[in-house]
Amino acid sequence: MQVYQEKKQIKAEIEQLKSKQITIGFVPTMGALHQGHLTLVKEALGNNDKVVVSIFVNPTQFNNTTDLEKYPRTLNSDVVLLETVSKNDILVYAPTVEDIYEGNTVSQNFDFDGLEQEMEGKFRPGHFNGVGTVVKRLFEIVKPDKAYFGKKDFQQLAIIKKMVDKYQIPVNIVGCKIHRETNGLAMSSRNTRLTKEQKEAAPFIYKTLITAKRQFGTKSANKVIHWVGKQFANHEVLKLEYFIIADAETLKPIKRKSNKKAYRAFIAVFADDIRLIDNIALN
Ligand code: PAJ
Repeated sequence: MQVYQEKKQIKAEIEQLKSKQITIGFVPTMGALHQGHLTLVKEALGNNDKVVVSIFVNPTQFNNTTDLEKYPRTLNSDVVLLETVSKNDILVYAPTVEDIYEGNTVSQNFDFDGLEQEMEGKFRPGHFNGVGTVVKRLFEIVKPDKAYFGKKDFQQLAIIKKMVDKYQIPVNIVGCKIHRETNGLAMSSRNTRLTKEQKEAAPFIYKTLITAKRQFGTKSANKVIHWVGKQFANHEVLKLEYFIIADAETLKPIKRKSNKKAYRAFIAVFADDIRLIDNIALN
C-alpha cells in the first residue's frame, strides 16, 4: 500500500487517476484506526474506484494541548489494518504538519450559520474552525468525488455539509452510521486510552441514550434532560459534560416538541481526562 507524505506526490498520482476517469472516494481521519473508520472505508470502496484515506492529527482542532499530545499515533498498524480491507485500491496520505500548514499553523475563521455555536462548538472553542480549515485543504489536495464522514461526529458532519454548500466545493458528502462495540460503546480512537474500569463503565453512555430515547416518546424534553443529569450525578467513573436534545437540522436545543421535526440527543462525558461523545436519533 502506497503511503504518501507530501501533497505534491499524492496530487500527481490523483491527477493521473482522474485523467483515466477513475473515481475517488475520500475518508479523512486522525488515525488510530478502528472498525468504525473501516466501515467508512468499506462504504467508500463500494462506491468509488479508489479511496484516499488521510491520517493526520490536526493540531488546530485541539483546544486542549494534553488531548493533542496524548492523541494516539499508530501509523504502522493503521496501514496494516487498511490492508485487511484492500491492498490495491487504497492510497494513504499521512502528511506532516508542515506539508498541510506550510509554516502557518492557524485556522481560518468560518461562519457555519450558527451550527458551530452549539455543543462541541461551545465546549471546544475554535474546534470547528480547525476542522473546517483542515478538511477544506484536504479537499483541495484530494479533489474527491465523494467524501465519507461518520454520524458519530454528527455536528462535524453537519458543518462539513454546510461548508461544501457555502464554498461550492464540488464533492458529495456521505454520512455513515455509528459503529459500536457489542456492548454499545461508540468506537473511538480515544477508547484505547481507557483503563479497564473506565472501559467497563463507558457502555453506560449508550445505555442512557437508549433509555432517554424511549422516555422522549412520552415525556417532555426537560424531564428527559433532568433524568439523564441524575444518572450521572453520582457516577463514580463518568462525569457528564453535557446532554442536549436538539433539532437534528439546526442543532439548536429543543424548545417545544413538534412532530414535524427530527430530534437528536447529544452527549459528552469525561472518564478522567478522556472525553467521549455519542448521539442518537430520537424520532
Ligand atoms: P477521526 O476522529 O479520526 O474520525 C474520522 C472519521 O471517522 C469521522 O468522520 C468520524 O465521524 C468517523 N468515525 C469515528 N468513529 C466512528 C464510529 N464509531 N462510527 C462511525 N464513524 C466513526 O473526525 C475526525 O477524525 C477529524 O475531525 C477529521 C474529520 C479527520 C478532521 O481532522
